[in-house]
Amino acid sequence: MTCTTKLYTGGQTAFIHGSDLHENIIPGLGTSPDSCADTIAGEIMDIYSKVVDFDRKERYYNPSNQPKTIFQRLDQVIALDVDDTTADAILSSSGFNLAFDAITGFRSRYTAELEIEQANAIMGSSDPWQSLKDFAYFSNYIELARTEFRGAGLKAGDTVLFLGSGPLPLSLIVLCQKHGLKGIGIEQEPDRVKLSRRVIERLGLSDQIRIIKGNHLTLPIEEPVDLIMVAAQAEPKDVIFDHLATVMPAGTKMSYRIYEKGLRRLLDTFSRYELPANLKEYLRIRPTPPANNTSIFLSVV
Ligand SMILES: C[S@@+](CC[C@H](N)C(=O)[O-])C[C@H]1O[C@@H](n2cnc3c(N)ncnc32)[C@H](O)[C@@H]1O
Repeated sequence: MTCTTKLYTGGQTAFIHGSDLHENIIPGLGTSPDSCADTIAGEIMDIYSKVVDFDRKERYYNPSNQPKTIFQRLDQVIALDVDDTTADAILSSSGFNLAFDAITGFRSRYTAELEIEQANAIMGSSDPWQSLKDFAYFSNYIELARTEFRGAGLKAGDTVLFLGSGPLPLSLIVLCQKHGLKGIGIEQEPDRVKLSRRVIERLGLSDQIRIIKGNHLTLPIEEPVDLIMVAAQAEPKDVIFDHLATVMPAGTKMSYRIYEKGLRRLLDTFSRYELPANLKEYLRIRPTPPANNTSIFLSVV
Protein backbone atom coordinates (compact mmCIF):
# COMPACT_ATOMS: atom_id res chain seq x y z
CA MET A 1 0.00 0.00 0.00
CA THR A 2 1.45 3.33 -0.96
CA CYS A 3 0.33 6.88 -0.69
CA THR A 4 1.78 9.21 -3.25
CA THR A 5 -0.24 12.36 -2.81
CA LYS A 6 1.40 15.69 -2.32
CA LEU A 7 0.36 17.12 1.02
CA TYR A 8 0.75 20.62 2.33
CA THR A 9 1.81 20.14 5.89
CA GLY A 10 2.28 23.08 8.19
CA GLY A 11 2.56 25.44 5.27
CA GLN A 12 5.29 23.34 3.65
CA THR A 13 4.91 20.89 0.82
CA ALA A 14 5.69 17.28 1.62
CA PHE A 15 5.65 14.49 -0.94
CA ILE A 16 4.69 11.14 0.49
CA HIS A 17 5.50 8.16 -1.61
CA GLY A 18 6.33 4.51 -1.48
CA SER A 19 5.61 4.08 2.20
CA ASP A 20 4.30 0.75 3.33
CA LEU A 21 1.50 1.93 5.57
CA HIS A 22 1.06 -1.38 7.34
CA GLU A 23 4.69 -1.54 8.35
CA ASN A 24 4.84 2.10 9.26
CA ILE A 25 1.81 2.66 11.40
CA ILE A 26 0.40 -0.41 12.97
CA PRO A 27 0.98 -0.16 15.86
CA GLY A 28 3.41 2.66 15.28
CA LEU A 29 0.96 5.53 14.74
CA GLY A 30 2.34 8.48 16.62
CA THR A 31 5.68 6.86 17.37
CA SER A 32 7.31 6.94 13.96
CA PRO A 33 7.64 10.58 12.92
CA ASP A 34 8.50 9.71 9.34
CA SER A 35 5.57 7.43 8.73
CA CYS A 36 3.06 8.12 6.06
CA ALA A 37 0.25 7.73 8.58
CA ASP A 38 1.78 10.28 10.91
CA THR A 39 1.98 12.71 8.05
CA ILE A 40 -1.66 12.07 7.12
CA ALA A 41 -2.76 12.47 10.74
CA GLY A 42 -0.72 15.68 10.95
CA GLU A 43 -2.31 16.99 7.79
CA ILE A 44 -5.81 16.28 9.11
CA MET A 45 -5.02 18.07 12.37
CA ASP A 46 -3.54 21.00 10.48
CA ILE A 47 -6.70 21.24 8.36
CA TYR A 48 -8.69 21.11 11.59
CA SER A 49 -6.70 24.00 13.07
CA LYS A 50 -7.38 26.07 9.92
CA VAL A 51 -11.08 25.18 9.97
CA VAL A 52 -11.36 26.28 13.59
CA ASP A 53 -9.71 29.54 12.54
CA PHE A 54 -12.23 29.75 9.72
CA ASP A 55 -15.01 29.55 12.29
CA ARG A 56 -13.44 32.28 14.40
CA LYS A 57 -12.35 34.78 11.79
CA GLU A 58 -14.19 36.50 9.03
CA ARG A 59 -11.16 37.47 6.99
CA TYR A 60 -7.95 35.94 5.77
CA TYR A 61 -4.73 37.66 4.96
CA ASN A 62 -2.78 34.50 4.26
CA PRO A 63 -3.78 32.69 1.01
CA SER A 64 -2.97 29.30 2.56
CA ASN A 65 -5.84 29.93 4.99
CA GLN A 66 -8.41 30.58 2.29
CA PRO A 67 -11.45 28.27 2.47
CA LYS A 68 -10.81 27.14 -1.11
CA THR A 69 -7.26 26.02 -0.27
CA ILE A 70 -8.44 24.22 2.85
CA PHE A 71 -11.23 22.52 0.89
CA GLN A 72 -8.73 21.34 -1.76
CA ARG A 73 -6.35 20.01 0.89
CA LEU A 74 -9.22 18.12 2.48
CA ASP A 75 -10.22 16.70 -0.91
CA GLN A 76 -6.64 15.52 -1.43
CA VAL A 77 -6.29 13.84 1.91
CA ILE A 78 -9.61 11.93 1.79
CA ALA A 79 -8.77 10.70 -1.73
CA LEU A 80 -5.53 9.05 -0.60
CA ASP A 81 -5.31 5.38 -1.44
CA VAL A 82 -5.46 4.09 2.12
CA ASP A 83 -7.08 0.78 3.04
CA ASP A 84 -9.87 0.62 5.62
CA THR A 85 -7.72 -0.88 8.40
CA THR A 86 -5.13 1.84 8.06
CA ALA A 87 -7.82 4.52 7.82
CA ASP A 88 -9.34 3.12 11.03
CA ALA A 89 -6.01 3.35 12.80
CA ILE A 90 -5.57 6.95 11.73
CA LEU A 91 -9.13 8.12 12.35
CA SER A 92 -9.61 6.37 15.69
CA SER A 93 -6.90 8.54 17.20
CA SER A 94 -8.50 10.23 20.22
CA GLY A 95 -7.56 13.75 19.17
CA PHE A 96 -9.82 13.49 16.12
CA ASN A 97 -13.17 13.61 17.92
CA LEU A 98 -13.41 17.39 17.83
CA ALA A 99 -11.85 17.51 14.37
CA PHE A 100 -14.67 15.44 12.82
CA ASP A 101 -17.44 17.91 13.64
CA ALA A 102 -15.39 20.97 12.71
CA ILE A 103 -14.24 19.50 9.39
CA THR A 104 -17.64 18.16 8.32
CA GLY A 105 -19.27 21.46 9.33
CA PHE A 106 -16.75 23.44 7.31
CA ARG A 107 -17.18 21.16 4.28
CA SER A 108 -20.93 21.42 4.45
CA ARG A 109 -20.82 25.24 4.51
CA TYR A 110 -18.26 25.43 1.74
CA THR A 111 -20.24 22.99 -0.44
CA ALA A 112 -23.30 25.21 -0.03
CA GLU A 113 -21.20 28.20 -1.15
CA LEU A 114 -20.10 26.29 -4.25
CA GLU A 115 -23.70 25.41 -5.00
CA ILE A 116 -24.79 29.04 -4.63
CA GLU A 117 -22.01 30.12 -7.00
CA GLN A 118 -23.05 27.51 -9.57
CA ALA A 119 -26.74 28.32 -9.19
CA ASN A 120 -25.96 31.98 -9.96
CA ALA A 121 -23.84 30.92 -12.95
CA ILE A 122 -26.78 28.89 -14.26
CA MET A 123 -29.07 31.89 -13.89
CA GLY A 124 -26.67 34.06 -15.88
CA SER A 125 -25.89 31.52 -18.60
CA SER A 126 -27.34 31.38 -22.09
CA ASP A 127 -27.02 27.57 -21.85
CA PRO A 128 -28.23 26.69 -18.33
CA TRP A 129 -27.97 22.91 -18.81
CA GLN A 130 -24.36 23.20 -19.95
CA SER A 131 -23.64 25.40 -16.97
CA LEU A 132 -25.16 22.75 -14.67
CA LYS A 133 -23.03 20.06 -16.30
CA ASP A 134 -19.94 22.20 -15.67
CA PHE A 135 -20.42 21.78 -11.93
CA ALA A 136 -17.40 19.85 -10.63
CA TYR A 137 -19.37 16.99 -9.10
CA PHE A 138 -22.05 16.63 -11.79
CA SER A 139 -20.94 13.15 -12.94
CA ASN A 140 -20.98 11.92 -9.33
CA TYR A 141 -24.63 12.95 -9.05
CA ILE A 142 -25.52 11.07 -12.26
CA GLU A 143 -24.07 7.87 -10.82
CA LEU A 144 -25.69 8.38 -7.41
CA ALA A 145 -29.08 9.02 -8.99
CA ARG A 146 -28.79 5.83 -11.03
CA THR A 147 -28.01 3.88 -7.86
CA GLU A 148 -30.86 5.44 -5.89
CA PHE A 149 -33.41 4.94 -8.68
CA ARG A 150 -32.47 1.26 -8.84
CA GLY A 151 -32.03 0.67 -5.09
CA ALA A 152 -35.42 2.15 -4.18
CA GLY A 153 -37.13 0.24 -7.02
CA LEU A 154 -38.52 3.47 -8.47
CA LYS A 155 -40.22 3.87 -11.83
CA ALA A 156 -40.90 6.89 -14.04
CA GLY A 157 -43.73 9.00 -12.62
CA ASP A 158 -42.90 8.16 -8.96
CA THR A 159 -42.27 10.97 -6.47
CA VAL A 160 -39.04 11.45 -4.55
CA LEU A 161 -38.70 13.88 -1.64
CA PHE A 162 -35.29 15.31 -0.77
CA LEU A 163 -34.76 16.75 2.72
CA GLY A 164 -32.08 19.46 2.55
CA SER A 165 -32.34 20.20 -1.16
CA GLY A 166 -30.05 23.26 -0.97
CA PRO A 167 -29.46 26.18 -3.34
CA LEU A 168 -28.74 23.85 -6.25
CA PRO A 169 -30.92 20.74 -5.87
CA LEU A 170 -28.73 18.60 -8.09
CA SER A 171 -29.93 15.24 -6.81
CA LEU A 172 -33.54 16.09 -7.58
CA ILE A 173 -32.67 17.67 -10.92
CA VAL A 174 -30.79 14.58 -12.10
CA LEU A 175 -33.33 12.10 -10.71
CA CYS A 176 -36.19 13.94 -12.39
CA GLN A 177 -34.51 14.77 -15.68
CA LYS A 178 -32.80 11.40 -16.25
CA HIS A 179 -35.31 9.05 -14.68
CA GLY A 180 -38.66 10.79 -15.22
CA LEU A 181 -39.47 11.20 -11.52
CA LYS A 182 -41.38 13.98 -9.82
CA GLY A 183 -39.44 15.78 -7.10
CA ILE A 184 -40.16 17.66 -3.90
CA GLY A 185 -37.33 19.45 -2.12
CA ILE A 186 -37.48 20.68 1.47
CA GLU A 187 -35.01 23.43 2.36
CA GLN A 188 -34.80 25.46 5.55
CA GLU A 189 -32.89 28.55 4.36
CA PRO A 190 -35.26 31.06 2.69
CA ASP A 191 -32.58 32.43 0.31
CA ARG A 192 -31.74 28.93 -0.87
CA VAL A 193 -35.42 28.12 -1.36
CA LYS A 194 -35.78 31.16 -3.65
CA LEU A 195 -32.57 30.54 -5.57
CA SER A 196 -33.32 26.84 -6.12
CA ARG A 197 -36.82 27.65 -7.38
CA ARG A 198 -35.34 30.09 -9.90
CA VAL A 199 -32.79 27.49 -11.06
CA ILE A 200 -35.51 24.88 -11.52
CA GLU A 201 -37.54 27.31 -13.57
CA ARG A 202 -34.49 28.25 -15.66
CA LEU A 203 -33.89 24.55 -16.39
CA GLY A 204 -37.52 24.12 -17.44
CA LEU A 205 -38.30 21.67 -14.62
CA SER A 206 -40.97 23.60 -12.71
CA ASP A 207 -43.63 21.07 -13.74
CA GLN A 208 -41.60 18.25 -12.23
CA ILE A 209 -39.92 19.72 -9.14
CA ARG A 210 -41.23 21.96 -6.39
CA ILE A 211 -39.40 23.30 -3.36
CA ILE A 212 -41.02 23.69 0.05
CA LYS A 213 -39.60 26.04 2.68
CA GLY A 214 -39.35 23.92 5.81
CA ASN A 215 -37.40 21.24 7.61
CA HIS A 216 -37.81 17.66 8.84
CA LEU A 217 -40.79 18.77 10.98
CA THR A 218 -42.60 19.65 7.74
CA LEU A 219 -42.94 15.89 7.23
CA PRO A 220 -45.23 14.15 6.69
CA ILE A 221 -46.80 16.04 3.82
CA GLU A 222 -50.20 15.19 2.39
CA GLU A 223 -48.92 14.07 -0.99
CA PRO A 224 -47.76 10.44 -1.14
CA VAL A 225 -44.02 10.01 -1.78
CA ASP A 226 -42.21 6.88 -2.96
CA LEU A 227 -38.81 7.70 -1.46
CA ILE A 228 -37.57 10.16 1.16
CA MET A 229 -33.91 11.04 0.70
CA VAL A 230 -32.00 12.69 3.54
CA ALA A 231 -29.16 14.95 2.40
CA ALA A 232 -25.69 14.19 3.76
CA GLN A 233 -25.66 17.73 5.18
CA ALA A 234 -29.15 17.57 6.75
CA GLU A 235 -28.93 18.08 10.50
CA PRO A 236 -29.44 17.17 13.29
CA LYS A 237 -29.32 13.54 12.18
CA ASP A 238 -30.64 11.97 15.37
CA VAL A 239 -33.61 14.39 15.55
CA ILE A 240 -34.40 13.92 11.85
CA PHE A 241 -34.42 10.11 11.94
CA ASP A 242 -36.26 9.95 15.29
CA HIS A 243 -38.93 12.22 13.82
CA LEU A 244 -39.21 10.27 10.55
CA ALA A 245 -39.41 6.99 12.46
CA THR A 246 -42.30 8.38 14.50
CA VAL A 247 -44.40 10.11 11.85
CA MET A 248 -43.90 8.11 8.66
CA PRO A 249 -46.15 5.09 8.08
CA ALA A 250 -44.86 1.52 7.85
CA GLY A 251 -43.53 0.73 4.39
CA THR A 252 -42.10 4.25 3.80
CA LYS A 253 -38.76 4.00 2.01
CA MET A 254 -35.84 6.28 2.82
CA SER A 255 -32.28 6.60 1.64
CA TYR A 256 -29.14 8.47 2.51
CA ARG A 257 -25.52 8.55 1.41
CA ILE A 258 -22.53 7.78 3.56
CA TYR A 259 -18.77 7.82 3.14
CA GLU A 260 -17.32 4.49 4.24
CA LYS A 261 -14.24 3.96 2.10
CA GLY A 262 -10.77 4.70 3.45
CA LEU A 263 -10.17 8.22 4.75
CA ARG A 264 -13.46 9.45 3.27
CA ARG A 265 -14.97 8.23 6.52
CA LEU A 266 -13.63 11.47 7.96
CA LEU A 267 -16.60 13.15 6.23
CA ASP A 268 -19.26 10.75 7.38
CA THR A 269 -21.90 12.27 9.62
CA PHE A 270 -24.30 9.32 9.72
CA SER A 271 -22.28 6.53 11.32
CA ARG A 272 -22.14 8.24 14.71
CA TYR A 273 -25.92 7.92 15.16
CA GLU A 274 -27.89 4.82 15.90
CA LEU A 275 -31.03 4.51 13.82
CA PRO A 276 -34.37 4.06 15.63
CA ALA A 277 -35.39 0.40 15.90
CA ASN A 278 -38.25 0.68 13.40
CA LEU A 279 -36.02 1.92 10.58
CA LYS A 280 -34.55 -1.19 8.98
CA GLU A 281 -31.75 -1.13 6.46
CA TYR A 282 -32.75 -3.36 3.54
CA LEU A 283 -30.04 -2.53 1.02
CA ARG A 284 -26.58 -1.01 0.86
CA ILE A 285 -24.99 -0.23 -2.51
CA ARG A 286 -21.30 0.58 -2.55
CA PRO A 287 -20.07 3.33 -4.87
CA THR A 288 -19.29 2.94 -8.55
CA PRO A 289 -16.78 5.56 -9.74
CA PRO A 290 -16.95 8.49 -10.04
CA ALA A 291 -19.35 8.39 -7.07
CA ASN A 292 -17.73 8.09 -3.63
CA ASN A 293 -20.78 7.48 -1.49
CA THR A 294 -22.36 4.25 -0.40
CA SER A 295 -26.16 4.50 -0.67
CA ILE A 296 -28.18 3.10 2.23
CA PHE A 297 -31.86 2.19 1.85
CA LEU A 298 -34.23 1.94 4.79
CA SER A 299 -37.82 0.96 5.30
CA VAL A 300 -40.15 1.87 8.17
CA VAL A 301 -41.33 -1.37 9.80
C1 LIG B 1 -25.89 22.09 0.46
S1 LIG B 1 -27.36 21.19 0.28
C2 LIG B 1 -26.82 19.68 -0.36
C3 LIG B 1 -27.81 18.95 -1.25
C4 LIG B 1 -27.41 18.93 -2.68
N1 LIG B 1 -27.78 20.20 -3.27
C5 LIG B 1 -28.04 17.80 -3.46
O1 LIG B 1 -28.80 18.08 -4.37
O2 LIG B 1 -27.72 16.63 -3.19
C6 LIG B 1 -27.76 20.79 1.92
C7 LIG B 1 -28.86 21.70 2.44
O3 LIG B 1 -29.52 21.07 3.51
C8 LIG B 1 -30.14 22.09 4.28
N2 LIG B 1 -30.56 21.48 5.53
C9 LIG B 1 -29.78 21.00 6.51
N3 LIG B 1 -30.53 20.44 7.47
C10 LIG B 1 -31.83 20.60 7.09
C11 LIG B 1 -33.08 20.22 7.68
N4 LIG B 1 -33.14 19.58 8.85
N5 LIG B 1 -34.22 20.53 7.01
C12 LIG B 1 -34.16 21.19 5.80
N6 LIG B 1 -33.01 21.56 5.21
C13 LIG B 1 -31.86 21.26 5.86
C14 LIG B 1 -29.07 23.15 4.37
O4 LIG B 1 -29.65 24.42 4.61
C15 LIG B 1 -28.40 23.05 2.97
O5 LIG B 1 -28.86 24.06 2.12
